[in-house]
Amino acid sequence: MRSVRDLDLSGKRVFLRADLNVPLAGGTIADATRIDATLPTIRLVLERGGRPVIASHLGRPKGARQPELSLKPVAEYLGKALGVPVTLAPDCVGEATERLVNAAPPGQVVLLENLRFHPEEEQNDDAFARQLARLADVYVDDAFGAVHRAHASTVGMTKYFRDKAAGLLLEREVKFLSGLLEQPAQPFVAVLGGAKVSDKIGVIESLVQRVSTICIGGAMAYTFLRAEQKPVGRSRVEADKLDVAREVAIRATDRGVTLLLPVDHLAADKPEAGARTTVVDAEHFPADLIGVDIGPRTAEIYRARIVKAKTVLWNGPMGIFEIDAFAKGTIAIAEALAACKGTTVVGGGDSVAALRRAGKIDAVTHVSTGGGASLEFLEGRELPGLLALEEDAPR
Ligand code: 3PG
Repeated sequence: MRSVRDLDLSGKRVFLRADLNVPLAGGTIADATRIDATLPTIRLVLERGGRPVIASHLGRPKGARQPELSLKPVAEYLGKALGVPVTLAPDCVGEATERLVNAAPPGQVVLLENLRFHPEEEQNDDAFARQLARLADVYVDDAFGAVHRAHASTVGMTKYFRDKAAGLLLEREVKFLSGLLEQPAQPFVAVLGGAKVSDKIGVIESLVQRVSTICIGGAMAYTFLRAEQKPVGRSRVEADKLDVAREVAIRATDRGVTLLLPVDHLAADKPEAGARTTVVDAEHFPADLIGVDIGPRTAEIYRARIVKAKTVLWNGPMGIFEIDAFAKGTIAIAEALAACKGTTVVGGGDSVAALRRAGKIDAVTHVSTGGGASLEFLEGRELPGLLALEEDAPR
């Protein structure tokens, strides 16, 4: 993969595929992490005299123009963050957009309107890809969060460029995530949480070959515990994944990997704010309660492993951390990562939000901007957006 640093950008129109798919609340940006993460690449293009033509999807408008999913708030944010004029094009393709792009002077940024207003984007339609390609001289992909999608802007259009490269964010993501797969420093501890075993099973299977310890939390833990015949009260269990959980546990044992499950829980009478809560031992889970967080002993056991690790991956909260009363376990994990001196990598929107809430976002080595993309990467899958950037990809 070439780097944006290696391209001659002077005077060139630079198609910059970014992942500006940020959460919106009432028309304003609720979390700008993804935009901030791609700013260094945009700045580099501007410094090198390139003319950035930035493209992204926002949400899932299903191929139709939905005004509430316009990139307008993103254009305004970018303008302020970069301190240069940012013009939002009326569309991502078409004559008016081409005129605007071609007339944009160096030093200015054009942001194309939401790629997914056109069904052809997700269909990886060739005619649409060609229209996008007409807007630029070189192609740079910085949209790590979308590299698992074989869409027109991530794959289809790349064959129309001789000069194509990864942006700084994409390079950084690949560097740190591949570092977890290729000879990570040991001990390597993976902390996995979230609601479903089914979402994480591919990652667990890949990691079991690489880690020394896996710490399981979140609702996923109840499926593992139930698979071991442990009581879990009314906690959420994926009944059809009990076999999968058992197989993972066997595979971990075979490989000498320590698979840790919670030894205590915070249990509640309902999974809502204002619930009555109590800490319960994992062996004696009351039949009428629901697990909403890992307990303090579990948090301490996980912490002890994390702080001593040379490599840590954290993906998924330990409980329903959005509710303050159920957030202690997740916050404890965030603090443990911050105290670890090894390489610490965090992925998944919820863990990142928890890290931010604990005030520890700057205390970890790398925060991945990819959700599905980082999971698929860690599963060891080939990602179409990355393959399309390889030197020998078809032109
Ligand atoms: C994400 O939010 O994970 C990326 O922006 C990809 O979005 P998608 O799942 O809608 O393709």
